[in-house]
Amino acid sequence: MNLQKVFKNKTVLLTGHTGFKGSWLATWLQKMEAKVVGYSLPPSSKPSHIDELNLDIVNVEGDVRDLEKLKKTFSEHQPEIVLHLAAQSLVRPSYHNPIETYDTNVMGTLKVLEAARHCSSVRAIVNVTSDKCYENKEWPWGYRETDPMGGFDPYSSSKGCSEILTASFRNSYLPTTEYGDKHQVLLASARAGNVIGGGDWADNRLIPDAMRALAKGEALTIRSPRAIRPWQHVLEPLRGYLYLAAKLVEGDTSFAQGWNFGPFDENCLSVEQVLTKMKQHWADFSYNTEDNPFHEATFLKLDSSKAKQYLGFSPKLSIDDTLRLTSHWYREFYDTGKLLTHSQIDWYLDICKNQ
Ligand SMILES: NC(=O)c1ccc[n+]([C@@H]2O[C@H](COP(=O)([O-])OP(=O)(O)OC[C@H]3O[C@@H](n4cnc5c(N)ncnc54)[C@H](O)[C@@H]3O)[C@@H](O)[C@H]2O)c1
Repeated sequence: MNLQKVFKNKTVLLTGHTGFKGSWLATWLQKMEAKVVGYSLPPSSKPSHIDELNLDIVNVEGDVRDLEKLKKTFSEHQPEIVLHLAAQSLVRPSYHNPIETYDTNVMGTLKVLEAARHCSSVRAIVNVTSDKCYENKEWPWGYRETDPMGGFDPYSSSKGCSEILTASFRNSYLPTTEYGDKHQVLLASARAGNVIGGGDWADNRLIPDAMRALAKGEALTIRSPRAIRPWQHVLEPLRGYLYLAAKLVEGDTSFAQGWNFGPFDENCLSVEQVLTKMKQHWADFSYNTEDNPFHEATFLKLDSSKAKQYLGFSPKLSIDDTLRLTSHWYREFYDTGKLLTHSQIDWYLDICKNQ
């Protein structure tokens, strides 16, 4: 699929552009000459990837819970594509702040959809949820798009709710049967796994915690060492979101549904296995384990057969590529202050072209 052709000169409203995935996506979109309007709270970390990147995009500081500001932003910029990534994105803080988590991830999503529905330029919306949206049965198989929504902890459940909300919103206001007749908008959702890569400085995430500890020469403290997750490089699910948005903006109604974008099966490793592999790419480091007072799923895997079959999406990066790119990014940043974001996107695009 020629993404550049689809995105060039399109106005894309990207929520969550100040976060980890959003900052990479804004960079990629800018490379494709899309006009990016970012809508988010200010960056929450220092350093901050989006600030370091210094991109030429429109930056709107706004809260997704603020419907009036959303409507004003839509009306002012008239986006054709909406990529909704803004969220309270972490499990642990969700236990401490359930109201903020649901308010942002559920009501915030509803407000983004509502503002988009009332903006006549919008043609495609992708709501980014999570692999954690599924009712977790701790079984060894990957979850399929047809499995029931669930979520034990507030974060996971808020993402399950966001999925249910998306389906209801589509049925109620943007049914594919009325597309082109009563409305012009296709709405889909995307579920990906544990994403890693450079430029993430969130607290309570394995890789940023490890990179911070390594750079300072300190020991790392981890919880749930045996928890198994589908680790993937940030560029992999972003490619899935872009493919999906491209299909929607081209008007293919069959894509207005939920999609999994998981990594290779071999990328499903325990936290402990990932740390052991990570050492090969940077340096030896020690870690302690502490009890996790909160419940977190121990096994989680996505079945992405549907995306492979219909979207032509399949992962490109092995776990070793993923960890190499990630540790290389942080090493370069901590050693020289240089950002590898652009060059890693170029390298990844080459891999995608040549495979
Ligand atoms: N990182 C992962 O491993 C992972 C895995 C699965 C799903 N996801 C989902 O992908 C999306 C992006 O994740 P991320 O890792 O970049 O998260 P992040 O925490 O790094 O960034 C979150 C972004 O949302 C914005 N935001 C938070 N609350 C907001 C509010 N009330 N109003 C406006 N903006 C707000 C932040 O400012 C930031 O830009 C999220 O929806 C997340 O749930 C992430």
